[in-house]
Amino acid sequence: MINALRGMRDLTFEESERFVHIVKTAIQIAKRYGYNYIETPILEETKLFKRSVGESSDIVGKEMYQFIDKGDNDVCMRPEGTAGVVRSFIQAKLDRRQNEKFKFYYYGPMFRYERPQKGRLREFHQFGCESFGEASVYEDFTIIEMIGEIFKALGIGYKLQINSLGCPECMPSYRQNLVSFLTECKEELCEDCNRRIESNPIRVLDCKNEKCQSLLTNSPKLISNLCQSCESDLNRLKRLLDSAKIEYEVDTNLVRGLDYYSKTAFEFVSDNIGSQSAIAGGGRYDRLVEFLDGKPTPAIGFALGIERIMELVVMPKIEREGYYLGAMDEEAIDLLFPLASKKRSSDKVTIEYLPKKLKAHLKNADKVNARYCAVIGEDELKNGTIWVKDLVKKSEETINQEEF
Ligand code: HAM
Repeated sequence: MINALRGMRDLTFEESERFVHIVKTAIQIAKRYGYNYIETPILEETKLFKRSVGESSDIVGKEMYQFIDKGDNDVCMRPEGTAGVVRSFIQAKLDRRQNEKFKFYYYGPMFRYERPQKGRLREFHQFGCESFGEASVYEDFTIIEMIGEIFKALGIGYKLQINSLGCPECMPSYRQNLVSFLTECKEELCEDCNRRIESNPIRVLDCKNEKCQSLLTNSPKLISNLCQSCESDLNRLKRLLDSAKIEYEVDTNLVRGLDYYSKTAFEFVSDNIGSQSAIAGGGRYDRLVEFLDGKPTPAIGFALGIERIMELVVMPKIEREGYYLGAMDEEAIDLLFPLASKKRSSDKVTIEYLPKKLKAHLKNADKVNARYCAVIGEDELKNGTIWVKDLVKKSEETINQEEF
């Protein structure tokens, strides 16, 4: 027997219903906020992710599904959606339309070669949004508000963590301070952190090692070293969240696992799904378009992890729906098809192709959760009628087939 690969899953029945419900709800809300659908390829040149997500990140350093294709191209299955959307944005020359704003939403599979565990898959699905051309912190607020609305519509509680990762004005001097601090306690930091001191010191801040965390309590904090513009944006964001009554916590160690962020970064976490608790994450990436050879364009976005949300979503009650059609004689089966076609213009219809007794049809109608069970028996065949039972009201009637 051949099984799916480790860390990759099939979604069927109730689970796939959850998946569709999440995507549909997110799309509906994103559209209300002005987002349009974008579809980008799953395979991209490896260098796209190296340059955007960052060579020193775990995603690029350890987790890429990377291979050389038959044309000798170094390609990679996308580990996330932002890089591809930014590549597409530049390729379509939208970066040259500097006074316009562009908003895209997407959903689909992402691939990371991580160690699989609960809530952590090698193929997982994200729903994401990317907004280009808006530098104002009002957009940061709007995007956070939108994610909150998606979770509310799905019946999911969350904790919101925010931070500011600074900008080219305040980040370099902070980075220097941090490197000096880290170099002093180098001996006591873990191996990973030691490697990161030079390559990506900010990532040391979210090391999960307890000893590192205790050393870091005294580290310089970026939040106390922000330039005036980053500080006032963070304060305004906090004020906007306060007045919208969106609860949050400022987490000075929130750095995100991707290198392209600046200024606002945020994560939505849930207490109810175990250690892989991040259900959505995102932030501002004002320099990425330029970094990928486009014209400087401010941008912000987020992605939510559909599988993690599937564990939390409260599904609307599934009501009985549509028609189940059956016949008691072989002869009457042909008559079911035109009746089904007519009903299918507005309703879900299931046809049973084998003649059966009434009791068996009623049982089948129940199994497919139909609202109505409609059967042509011997008398109905003679009289050109059909017997219809409403399985909710428990009422029944016999009507002419033309009126069905
Ligand atoms: P990310 O935080 O890497 O951000 O992923 C977003 C969400 O995807 C996570 O919060 C989590 O719910 C889900 N996720 C990540 N890895 C896995 C996994 N191995 N298994 C299951 N779910 C997972 C990004 O990907 C950025 N592109 C978000 C963004 C968009 N930032 C700006 N625009």
